[in-house]
Amino acid sequence: MSGHGTPIPMTSHRAAPLTGVAEVPGDKSISHRSLILGAMAVGETKISGLLEGDDVLDTAKAMQAFGAEVVNHGGGNWSVFGVGVGGFAEPDQVIDCGNSGTGVRLIMGCMATSPIAVTFTGDASLNGRPMARVTDPLALFGAKTVGRSGGRLPMTIVGAAQPTPVRYVVPVPSAQVKSAVLLAGLNAPGQTVVIEKEATRDHSERMLAGFGAEITVEDSDEGRVITLTGQPELKPQVIAVPRDPSSAAFPVCAALITPGSDVLVPGIGLNPTRAGLFYTLQDMGADLTFENPREEGGEPVADLRARYSPNMQGIAVPPERAASMIDEYPVLSVVASFATGKTMMAGVKELRVKESDRIDAMARGLRANGVMVEEGEDWWSVEGLGPDGVQGGGTCESFLDHRIAMSFMVMGMGAQNPVTVDDGTPITTSFPIFEPLMTGLGAKLSQA
Ligand code: S3P
Repeated sequence: MSGHGTPIPMTSHRAAPLTGVAEVPGDKSISHRSLILGAMAVGETKISGLLEGDDVLDTAKAMQAFGAEVVNHGGGNWSVFGVGVGGFAEPDQVIDCGNSGTGVRLIMGCMATSPIAVTFTGDASLNGRPMARVTDPLALFGAKTVGRSGGRLPMTIVGAAQPTPVRYVVPVPSAQVKSAVLLAGLNAPGQTVVIEKEATRDHSERMLAGFGAEITVEDSDEGRVITLTGQPELKPQVIAVPRDPSSAAFPVCAALITPGSDVLVPGIGLNPTRAGLFYTLQDMGADLTFENPREEGGEPVADLRARYSPNMQGIAVPPERAASMIDEYPVLSVVASFATGKTMMAGVKELRVKESDRIDAMARGLRANGVMVEEGEDWWSVEGLGPDGVQGGGTCESFLDHRIAMSFMVMGMGAQNPVTVDDGTPITTSFPIFEPLMTGLGAKLSQA
C-alpha cells in the first residue's frame, strides 16, 4: 500500500524529447462511483477501464465488506453484483480507505442512511483531513458520528434507521460533499435537495441518472439545485470509464516544457467540470489541441495533442475556473515556472485541505528548485523563468501526496538539473503506471 511502507525517493532527469502515445488510466472519480453505485444497484454492473490504483482498490474492498460481490476479470474489467439501495450489511472490520478522501467521503454518504455502524480509517494524510464537511450534512439525515478532535478519522458512523431527506446548501465547493449527500439521499424517503453555489464535477449526477434514479438539476439564483427522489431501485449498468483528465495532465504538461516533444494522449474525458487545466494552458499559449472529439459512456472525450511550447506566458487564472481544475494546480505551477511572467492562481483555498496542503507543498518544492513563489490563504503566484530558466537540482517532499510527487517528476523533465522527491510511492494511489508510461515517452526517472 502506498505511503504506508518505506519511502522510496525518485529522481527525474532532463528528458530527451517526449514522443509517442500516452494511454493514461481510467478516471478516478468515475471509478469510485462505478463501484459504489454498482454495489447499490440490483444485479451485475460491468465496468471496463476501471482505474486500478490503490484508492479505487480500497473502495472495491469496502463494497465487498458491505456485502456486494466484486469480481476482477483482469485488464481493467470488473463486475459488481449489487445488493440494492438499503441492502448494505454491517462490515465486520474497520474500513480502511488508505489515502482516499473521495473513497471515504462517498462511502460515508452511501452508508449513512442504513442502520449499520461503520468505523473508518486511513493513512496519515487521510486521518489529518477534515470530515465534518461530510458528517455535518449526514447528521441531518439522522446519522450519528464519533471521531477524533477536529472531525478527523478514525471515526465511527452509525447510520440512520429512519432517515429523513434533507435540503442542504454545500458551504464549500466540493464534489465529494455534494456526492456524499446525494448518496445518503438514495436511501431516504422523499426528495433530497443539494444546492451548490459553484458547479463542481457532476459525475454523480450523470451516473445516478444513468443508474435509473430520478434526479433533476436546475440553475437558480441560489446556484445549481439538484433534486433526488429517494429509494429508487437502481438498475445495473455497463460502464466504460473514460481516461482521467487529471492523469492526462502529467504527460501533457511534461510535453509542453520538454524541448522537441510531441505527445498524443487519447480518449481523455473532457467533462466541462473537469477540463479547466487544458483551457488554461491554451490561454498561456500552449501548443495543445483537442482531436477527434466524441462522446463515450455519456461523457465528452477527445484525443489531446501536446507539443513543446517555449513561448508560454504567465496569466491570471480565472478564479471561477478553480473547481474545474482543482487537482491540476500543482502541475500547472510547474508549467508556470517555464512560462514568461507571473501566473496568479486565486480562489483556491480548497488546495490547503487536499492529500497535503498543496499550496505549501508546491511552494516549498518550487523554491528548492530556484522558482519564486508568493502565497496567501487562498491564492498563490509563480514567477516564470522562461523555457530554459528553471535550474532544478532540488529535493522536494511529497507529503504522501501523489500529485505533488508527479508534479516534481514533470519538472525534472524540463529543468536544467535533476529534481528529486523524497517519496515516489504515493503515485500508485491514482496513476500506478506513471513510471513506465513516462519512461516509454522518453522520460528519465530513477529510484533514489
Ligand atoms: C473528487 C472531488 C475533488 C477532487 C478529488 C476527487 C471527486 O475533491 O479534489 O480528487 O471525485 O468527487 P473535493 O470534493 O474535496 O473538491
